[in-house]
This record gives sequence, structure tokens and C-alpha cells, in this order.
Amino acid sequence: MSVNLPRPTYTKTASHVPGNCHTPSSGQAAWYPPVMAGADTLGAKVSRAETILQALVLMQRLSPDAYTTYLKDFYSHGLERFESHWRYADIVTVLLCLADALQPRNYLEVGVRRGRSAAAVASKAPSCAMALFDMWQPDYAGMENPGPAFVTSELKSIGYQGQASFIDGNSHQTLPRFFAQNPNVMFDLITVDGDHSELGAAQDMCDVLPRLAVGGALVFDDISHPLHPELNGVWQTLVVSDDRFSAFSYREAGYGVGFAIRKY
Ligand SMILES: C[S@@+](CC[C@H](N)C(=O)[O-])C[C@H]1O[C@@H](n2cnc3c(N)ncnc32)[C@H](O)[C@@H]1O
Repeated sequence: MSVNLPRPTYTKTASHVPGNCHTPSSGQAAWYPPVMAGADTLGAKVSRAETILQALVLMQRLSPDAYTTYLKDFYSHGLERFESHWRYADIVTVLLCLADALQPRNYLEVGVRRGRSAAAVASKAPSCAMALFDMWQPDYAGMENPGPAFVTSELKSIGYQGQASFIDGNSHQTLPRFFAQNPNVMFDLITVDGDHSELGAAQDMCDVLPRLAVGGALVFDDISHPLHPELNGVWQTLVVSDDRFSAFSYREAGYGVGFAIRKY
């Protein structure tokens, strides 16, 4: 059932992502807005076979669980069957491409679980600072949810060298508290993959969207998940229909994923 969604409150931001913004040479006027690559450019590779293969290799480097074991078979089967014609995207293929292209200085993630998505970022931007929010719900989706020490070791195993901060607890309390304590912080890359209820996901989005730097990317998972049909409405209402973003959506297979680049 659709509800009246909360809306984010944006303030003007002076924070730009260097990896996606043009700086005019000295003496030149800034004719265009600074962002150079939007969803068309950055989305070109996320569903290609070469990226799916990178996601498969990353999954092989992480400690397995029931979901990643399934995923490795799914990736391998699709690549065998459809070869270079296969178009498939998920949170991992998207984050591999965005982290590679943007080289984010910092990353915020709501919903970490075993560190799979954070590892995708770390594998491409090993020095990126990370603020990782989770309440470590036990037995999440029927699998163990071991917490920060496990995630730290997974990140280390793929060569992460940056500073990861874990902010434990319910995001509806921890995000507002974190931003109140860090009133000027902006992020180059953000993933929202925590509370999957319609209002809960919308609230996380409202908390983080105003903290996305210009030229940065917001990733929203599960926009075609059969158990969470409302998430696509949250994505469409809060991001796709907002002119301040250029958005990419993949809903063809798997659970779906979207990302958006902040233009202004
Ligand atoms: C779908 S999993 C995250 C998966 C991860 N991004 C990945 O790619 O493997 C969702 C996580 O969000 C956490 N979570 C759910 N509701 C939350 C809330 N309100 N606050 C903080 N974390 C939450 C759960 O504990 C779980 O670890």
C-alpha cells in the first residue's frame, strides 16, 4: 500500500566530487555546471559481462554464505549462457563501476550485513573513508549477521586500507544523530540498503540525500524485489522524478537496483 512519503530538505552545497567535476582553467569562466558524467555515461558499464565477471571474482574472494554461493552460480550461469550479450546489474556491479569511475573520497552505507557492497567499493577505492550504518539484525534473511569485526576482516582481505567507522543501531536514530554531530559532512558515494519498509527506506533516503555531494552517486537497492514492491515507488518519487538527479534503473532480472548522480 502506498503512503504519503516524507521528502528530503536540500540546502545549497558547495561540495563537489573531483572525480566527476570539471574545474575551468585559471582565467576561464565556468560556463557549464561542473558535473561531467551522469547516469547515461556511468550506467554504460554496470550491466556488461566484463563487470559481472568482476563481481563474480569479488564474490570468490569474500567468505561465502548461502546468498553469495547462489549469486556466484547465477553470475556464472548467465555468463556461460548469454556470454557478452548478457545485461545484468545489481548493487555489486553498480558499486564496482561507480567506485572505479568516481574514486570517492568517502562512502556512507546504510545496511552493511556481511560487507559485500562495502567490499565492492573498497576493491576499487581502497583508501576511501567509510561510514557504515547497521543494526546487525540477527538472522537477517535467514542468515547470520556477524557484525563489525567480521566486516572489518572481509574488507582487509580484499586490500582495504582506509578508515571504516561503524555506526551501530537503528538508522532512524543513528543517521539524524550522526548528521547533527557532523553538520557539514557530505559524501561522494552513498548506498541505501537497510530498512526495507516503505516508510523506513524513504526516511533513510530523506536523511542521506541532502548529504550527497554534487557529482556524487546514490545507490538504492532492490527496486524490483518481489517482497518489497513499494521500494520502486520510493525510488521513483524521491529520486527519478527530481530534476536534481540523473537516474539509472535496472529492473530486468534479480532484485533490481538504481543509482543517481546529483547534478546540482
Ligand atoms: C539487505 S541487508 C544489506 C546488504 C548489503 N548491502 C549487501 O550488499 O550485502 C540489510 C541490512 O540492513 C540492516 N538494517 C535493517 N533495518 C535497519 C535499520 N532500521 N537500521 C540499521 N540497519 C538496518 C540489517 O541488519 C541488514 O544487515
